[in-house]
Amino acid sequence: MTQSALIQGGASGLGQALVDRALKSGEFEQIFVTARDRSRIITEDSRVIPIELDLMSDTSINEASEKIASNTEKLHLVVTTAGILKDESVGVRPEKKLADLTRSKLEIVFSVNCFGPFLWYAALGHLIRHREALVVATLSARVASVGDNRLGGWHSYRASKTAQNMLTKNLSLELSRTNPRAVIVGLHPGTVDTDLSKPFQTGVPPNKLFSPEHSAAYLWDVLNTLTPERTGQVIAWDGQTIIP
Ligand SMILES: NC(=O)c1ccc[n+]([C@@H]2O[C@H](COP(=O)([O-])OP(=O)(O)OC[C@H]3O[C@@H](n4cnc5c(N)ncnc54)[C@H](OP(=O)(O)O)[C@@H]3O)[C@@H](O)[C@H]2O)c1
Repeated sequence: MTQSALIQGGASGLGQALVDRALKSGEFEQIFVTARDRSRIITEDSRVIPIELDLMSDTSINEASEKIASNTEKLHLVVTTAGILKDESVGVRPEKKLADLTRSKLEIVFSVNCFGPFLWYAALGHLIRHREALVVATLSARVASVGDNRLGGWHSYRASKTAQNMLTKNLSLELSRTNPRAVIVGLHPGTVDTDLSKPFQTGVPPNKLFSPEHSAAYLWDVLNTLTPERTGQVIAWDGQTIIP
């Protein structure tokens, strides 16, 4: 049976390391890899099908999903890595206090971290609505846990990922009605040395800062040991469930 994977944001950071894992596993005949700039996707392996995708654009979402649907009938592994924490080009930086919030910045952060991934899953339609084994994993973050929040701050990032976790739970319930083999989860990768975390690594002990390859290896183990009983959860790199 042909197995197909889709990794959104596979041209950088964790996404790229997860594409490497998927290739090395030998489990997939085709791996759709997306990035906003398609030319940044490494296409040396013929199993990689590069797709341009900007999750801020409905047109881009529709075009990318149509392209995938013209190549396969079903996806078996879907990983979405999109995340924004700081982007000076659009004035986004983690807020320290409530007065730092603005509507436009909240909209950008929620759009990338929460609206985009789930509008993407909606557009994938029948590609993820089947009865075969399916894993849909969206990169979340431990700081999205309400129960674990002791420091506050980072309002838009935290809240957008918390909302993302709720949509993960809702999608898990929706898909489980027709596919008892579907496992829909959020993943916390640990603190990982990528562009996203670079400005915030001061004070992180070296043994707590993973390389993207290291984190992807942990996450790959998690993905491979998931069972339908865990659908709807947010799971950390070490396999532990994160409290909502
Ligand atoms: N690094 C950490 O310590 C850490 C900790 C907890 C959670 N996370 C989460 O892990 C995920 C991956 O982050 P990373 O550390 O690998 O950082 P990264 O290298 O900066 O990756 C961020 C990803 O977001 C994507 N993205 C941003 N805006 C987008 C848009 N409009 N449309 C589509 N994609 C967009 C980028 O895709 P393009 O390549 O297409 O631009 C890129 O793949 C994020 O969701 C992040 O919140 C990271």
